[in-house]
Amino acid sequence: MLIRLDKYLADMGLGTRSQVKELIKKGKININGIVIKDGNLKVDSHKDIVYFEGNPIVYEEFEYYMLNKPSGVISASNDKHEKTVVDLITDKKRDDLFPIGRLDKDTEGLLIISNDGELSHNLLSPKKHINKTYYAELDKPLSKDKADKVCEGVYIEAGVKSMPAKLEYVNDINDTKVYLTIHEGKYHQVKRMFQAVGCKVTYLKRISMGPLKLDDKLQLGEYRRLTIEEVEALKKCNI
Ligand code: URA
Repeated sequence: MLIRLDKYLADMGLGTRSQVKELIKKGKININGIVIKDGNLKVDSHKDIVYFEGNPIVYEEFEYYMLNKPSGVISASNDKHEKTVVDLITDKKRDDLFPIGRLDKDTEGLLIISNDGELSHNLLSPKKHINKTYYAELDKPLSKDKADKVCEGVYIEAGVKSMPAKLEYVNDINDTKVYLTIHEGKYHQVKRMFQAVGCKVTYLKRISMGPLKLDDKLQLGEYRRLTIEEVEALKKCNI
């Protein structure tokens, strides 16, 4: 991939475009051993080796993270007043990351953070029906009858019926703790599905999305990079 030197450096977190232009002017950047003072120069990210003060700067077109989202943080890239899920990714290189999908402010669990627009589009497209599994706690036990209704589809607003879903009790029937797998992602989808049968969700956590499972080693607020295999599996799951 051919990319302008100043963009290459800015994308890899060395500073804003004007800051990296200064670094280039000062002769702090070399490519393949030759000091370069022109930020417009095109770098071949697969062949050239770019150094900053002697350290190689490897270009990454895409970054992919798995976050265990805590409650109290909003699913956005940036916000003037509130902490966002992207703010939690403290050692990111790129400044164009965004969450793939949204979890409510009070929902916890699995969220993918990336800058891969194509993957995001494919995972979120309503046509693809990617599975999402949630662990939910309810304010009252869920009877078998109500569970069946949730699985068949309930009206979450006038004229809008949820698609068939899968429900499992965590312990036994009439439990307040359940796993729900859905194939769509409308606003407050899970909360509204339970609300439709008279139950209030008191705690909600996403535990999987397509082939990706929340890594149980991640504490709330922690994240890790996705492995190459996980990224490949996500790319394949929606073909
Ligand atoms: N459904 C909800 O109601 N909330 C979420 O955050 C995710 C799914």
